[in-house]
Parts: sequence; C-alpha cells; structure tokens
Amino acid sequence: MIKYFSISIIALAIISIVGCNNNTKIKPSEDHYFSINPAYEDTIDNLIASMDLETKVGFLHGTGKFVSGGNKELAIPEFWYADGPNGVREELERDTWKTLNLTSDSVTFFPTGTALAATWNIDMAFKYGKAIGKESRARGKDMLLGPAVNIIRTPVCGRTFEYFTEDPFLNSRIAVGYVKGLQSMDVAACVKHFAANNQETERGRVSVTMSERALREIYLPVYKATVAEADALGMMGAYNKFRGDYLCQNDYLNNQILKDEFGFKGIVVSDWGATHNTVTAALGGLDVEMGSREDYYDSCYFGTPLVEAVKNGKVPESIVDDKVRRILRVSYNLNMMDKSKQKKGELTTPAIKKDVYTIASESVVLLKNDNKLLPINTDAIKNLAIIGAIAKQPQSFGGHTAGVKAKWEVSPFEGLSNNLKGKVVISYSEGYNFEYDGNYPINKPDNKLIAKAVKEAENADFAIVFVGNTRNIETEGVDRKDIMLPFGQDELIAAVTQANPNTIVVVVAGSACDLNVAKKQAPAILYSWFNGSEAGNALADILVGKVNPSGKMPFTLPVQLEDIAAHSFGAKAYPGEDLVVNYTEGILVGYRWFDTKNIEPLFPFGYGLSYTKFEYMTASTDKNNYTKNETIHLQIQVKNVGNITGKEIVQCYMQATNSKVKRAQKELKGFAKVAINAGATQNIEIPIKASDFAYYNESESNWEIEPGNYKLLVGSSSRNIYKEVNITIIE
Ligand code: BGC
Repeated sequence: MIKYFSISIIALAIISIVGCNNNTKIKPSEDHYFSINPAYEDTIDNLIASMDLETKVGFLHGTGKFVSGGNKELAIPEFWYADGPNGVREELERDTWKTLNLTSDSVTFFPTGTALAATWNIDMAFKYGKAIGKESRARGKDMLLGPAVNIIRTPVCGRTFEYFTEDPFLNSRIAVGYVKGLQSMDVAACVKHFAANNQETERGRVSVTMSERALREIYLPVYKATVAEADALGMMGAYNKFRGDYLCQNDYLNNQILKDEFGFKGIVVSDWGATHNTVTAALGGLDVEMGSREDYYDSCYFGTPLVEAVKNGKVPESIVDDKVRRILRVSYNLNMMDKSKQKKGELTTPAIKKDVYTIASESVVLLKNDNKLLPINTDAIKNLAIIGAIAKQPQSFGGHTAGVKAKWEVSPFEGLSNNLKGKVVISYSEGYNFEYDGNYPINKPDNKLIAKAVKEAENADFAIVFVGNTRNIETEGVDRKDIMLPFGQDELIAAVTQANPNTIVVVVAGSACDLNVAKKQAPAILYSWFNGSEAGNALADILVGKVNPSGKMPFTLPVQLEDIAAHSFGAKAYPGEDLVVNYTEGILVGYRWFDTKNIEPLFPFGYGLSYTKFEYMTASTDKNNYTKNETIHLQIQVKNVGNITGKEIVQCYMQATNSKVKRAQKELKGFAKVAINAGATQNIEIPIKASDFAYYNESESNWEIEPGNYKLLVGSSSRNIYKEVNITIIE
C-alpha cells in the first residue's frame, strides 16, 4: 500500500510530505528497517534443547535492577534494559535505585511523548527512535523501555507527558515510526504499558473494565500496529488489573490477543515489581519478571518457584521453552551474539542535537495569534520582558523513571537570550514561586512578584509570560488534582496582559492545562511542551519567525476538566470506586466524546495555526463506490495563500452516516503533513483503506465493515472541516 503519495506541484516546489494511512511504511531510505529474521529459529531451538530447566529459568528474571539472563558457559550475554521513553536513563547501581554518579552517562533529552505526537510527522517519529537508538547502543543497552503509548484518557494522568495522544490512529502512526527507528539501531523497543493503563492513581491495585469494543477500537490498535508493522520486540505489562486480572498475568491480553491474534514474537516484560504470582504469570503470558528485590533474584516468582512449578507439573516445560525462545529470538535479532555486527552507537553528537532541535521545532503549536502579533519583529522592538520562572526551569530531570540526566538543556530563557543577543534588551522576572504540597502545586499568586512582572511588562515593547507545569507536577506515580495552571499563573497572565497588549503566553507542559484566562486575555498563545535539550532554541526560532510553527494538538484542550469523557460519569469512571475503574464512555474518548456530545472544546484536537494561511481548494476521491477491500484515494488541493512557506497537517476524518450501530461523530483515518511554498497550491493524496471504516462487532467478536454511506471530512483540525466527500461502501 502506498504511503508516500504522488504529489503534483501546481505552483512552486514542495519540500516534504508525510501523509499516512493505516498501512504506512516509513519512507525508503538508506536506513535498514528491522524485521525479525526466521533464520535464527533452528539455532535457538537447538540451544534450548541443550539446556536444563534451571539454566532456562535463569533467563526469565532480573539479575539486577535493569539486567536479566545471560549465561557465560553458553556465551549468551546478559540483557540490559534502560528507561525510556524520552532519553536513556542514567546508570544506577546494579542492585539498587541509587545513581552511580558517573560523568560519562549524560545523554540527549528528547522532547517528551506529547511533543513528538504534536509534530504529526512519522518521519520525526522515526528520526526520534533512531537517535534514541543510537544513544542506547552507545550506552550498551539492548532494550529501551519505550515508547510509552497509553491512550490519553484523562489529562490529569501523571504520565500524559510520556504518552502521545487521545486518538488511536495518530498513536499508531507515531509509535510505529518510533519503534522502526529505534530497532533500526539494534536496540529493542519495549512498548509500554500493555494495556489499559491510563491513570496513576492506585495504578498498582485498580482493575479496569471496559467494553470489548472500546478495548479493540481505542486501546489496542497501537500495540497491534507496532507488532504488525514494526516487529516490536518487547511489550511491558502494566501495573494494574484488567477485568480483575493483573496485566502481567493476563491470559486474555497477553496470550490470546497479543501473541496469538496479533502474532507478537518478542518478550512480554513485567513492569518493575508488577508480577504477582508464579503459575498464573507463567501461564498468563509473562516472559521476563523484572523489578524484584536484590535479595530475591533467584527466588522471585520466575526464579526457583518457577523451577518448582515445572517440576510439580503446574507449568508445562514447553511454556518455559517458549519464553526462553522469545528472549533468545530478541537477542539474536539484535546481533547480541556477535556484537561486531551491531550498529555503532553515538552519544550527544551534533547530528542528534540537530534531530532533537528539528523535532522540537515541528512540535510547537500556535494556538492563537491575533493581529499577527507573532512572529516578533526583532528589528522593530528594543526590549522584551521574559516573565515566569518556568522560562528558566530545567525540565529533563523529574517525572520519576522518565527523568533524563541531560548533557545539556537550553531553557526558553537561554534560547531567547542567545537568539536576541545584541539586538533586543531582555529583562526577566519570576512572576510566581514554585511552591508545593508534596507533588501538588500550591495555586496561590504572589502579588509582589506579579507587581514586579507588571512593571517589567509596562517598560517593554513585548512581554512573554511562561506558564505551565514542572516535572514535579506531571510525574509518574501521581495524577494531577485538576488542570488549572499552578502557582497563581492565571493571575499573572491577567495582570501582564493588562499592562502590555503585546503579551504572548507560552505554555510549557506535557498535558492539557486550563487556558480559559490565557485565551480570553492574551493575543497570542504557544504550546511548547517539555521539549527536550533544544527546547529553548526551537521556541526562540519560532518566536522570531525563523521557523514557522507547524505542530497541532494531539489532544483536546477542554474548557473544563468535567467536559472530558472520563470525568463525566463520577468516581466510578475516574479514579474508580472500590478499586474498579469503569471506562463508561466506551469508544467516546477525546474528541470522539466532544464531537458526539456536542461539547465545545477550548481548542480542538488537531488544532494549530501557522504564520501563513492555507486554503482548502478541493477534495475528491477517485470513485464514489468502494468494495470493502479497496483503497480510497482521497485527493486534496491546498493553497498557501500567505507570503511565507509553511507546513500544514491535512486531516481526514470519517463519518458513518447511516450506521446501524453507534459511532463516534468522526474518527481520524488519515493525515498528511505537507510543506507548501508561499502562493503555491499542492495536490495531496491520502490513501485510506475502506477496511479502516470497520467497527468492532461485539456479538460477532469481529471487525465489521458496514456497507453504506460515509463522509470524508477534510480539514485542518477535528473542528475546522472545510471539505466533505461522500462515498459508499458496497458489498
Ligand atoms: C515504570 C516503567 C519503567 C520501570 C523501570 C516503572 O515504575 O512504570 O515505565 O520502565 O519502572 O524503571
């Protein structure tokens, strides 16, 4: 199936196009794409046949905090893991969580998950995976514990910043790119956290229940895609339970779906300390137990108790063989047996620096730009007030296991100072204090700091107010209590925008924040994420117009938290009652909920402006009627009617107009990120498989493509639809 479309250039030359549908393959280039090589299977079987039970079990559990297996006599190297997902974690003592305090393990801090997803660019995802793969290789890691792909069901989930999006289609495209890039460097991905792990509150104890349809349509597609399209070598079982059973010993999800149905050939690794039983886990699809205490490596669930369980007939030895086969398959396919064949790694090189800069600069989302306040005309201004302590706050470390010991990190303040040196005088004031109650920010304005900031703003031609979260607030292990901007930042925005009409609000966060005040008061707003080592440089280039913003929101920004589906059904839907969380909203997650229920978002899914303007001229398909196996070739003409080059993310949503079942009002089925020169019109083709219109029929336990009428809705966000094309699916 085509993924790189034919492009006809009507006016000027076009730079790049990165559209995709469900069968997208990464652009052919000099890169070697990883795929599992069946030629190793006989060798592996012979090797297993030569092992006694104890030797085999020796491969199935941690022998350190981030290492498992290995066998000197058989010349099989130990298997080394590292967190993930947005930078290779620092070296810890083998048996403890204590840092080794090395000077040689600093790495690149990659933009976190939502930033990558905001690029809507699978080439960026591949670049990201490959670059982090180079650093993992250089650090001697065999498996990187990423990408983290859980659906963003609620913005308060503490790990939202690690994840990508609320939409299963965008999720799959970004994850596939990441895994392909990573594994092209002979480093295994560990796609996490499988599955239905969408909150941190009581994550070790809650049981998630949801309809089979929601599971299939919303939560599982990303795992299926990374297996089918990228040969993902690892999956991490999540901490929580699903329908009453722990995920690391969940026969239904691990065996029946992941391994049997999706054909997963790699290893299911437990989350650290997420194994609860020997026999149930062994039979429930777990392959490697990680995270046991240092004095329990041999006696953990998958240590001597597993040997015993096989000996007394509770676990067939063939099950152990299958687990060993999987880990050896991963090891052979990573060329671990002959390291001279492995790709060479590199750490914090200029090439990687360029990659993270490029990704960061494609991720920033322009949410508002009244009277073309941005970009800042630096020739016309003399002084700039930078306000808000987040402008100087490092964001690499923190967030728990996703914390990165960054070799360098350019803050927004630094980026702007370097960029404007000698041209514009910069003043800085904090605007607020970072005050916490545990992980929760204290949301109290500091009137003295606000008064100082107002003064600075009054004396400046331009003010930029930096607001958002720190990595204390958005972190593993804790959900946020709400989505309010912390530390009295709303009061700061209100005061500064009053003092200076040329005020830009920059949001630094990994998840949704309440931007009501900012939207009402500020003429310009940018979402700048936790954007990696080059965050400040990328942002500065966007602010001064060296780079035209091209990111779009990978999740909905709500008017209020209560508008989010998971927060619309009381405690039973979030955070759960009696340790059960019922996903009552079913398939209506993210914009599917807002659109179906007619709830106005503050900024919709897929939204983002540019310094130029695009007009959607035409949209058409090659035919009107398609059979279920056919591909719809959607042709769209987009014109850049402004006077600078820009990139647009053209989105196509499907609407089932006469379905016999309830469908979401619209579902994303394709997108293309295209660069279009000023004045140019471009033809874009987005191929969409008719089979992607299927819904999951619970009574038949199967996907069903209903014949009937559908609309293809084409636009620049889920709520900015400019063209509609009617098509019919026929029997
Ligand atoms: C996290 C995982 C992480 C693991 C190892 C767990 O707490 O949930 O995402 O990879 O720790 O650090």
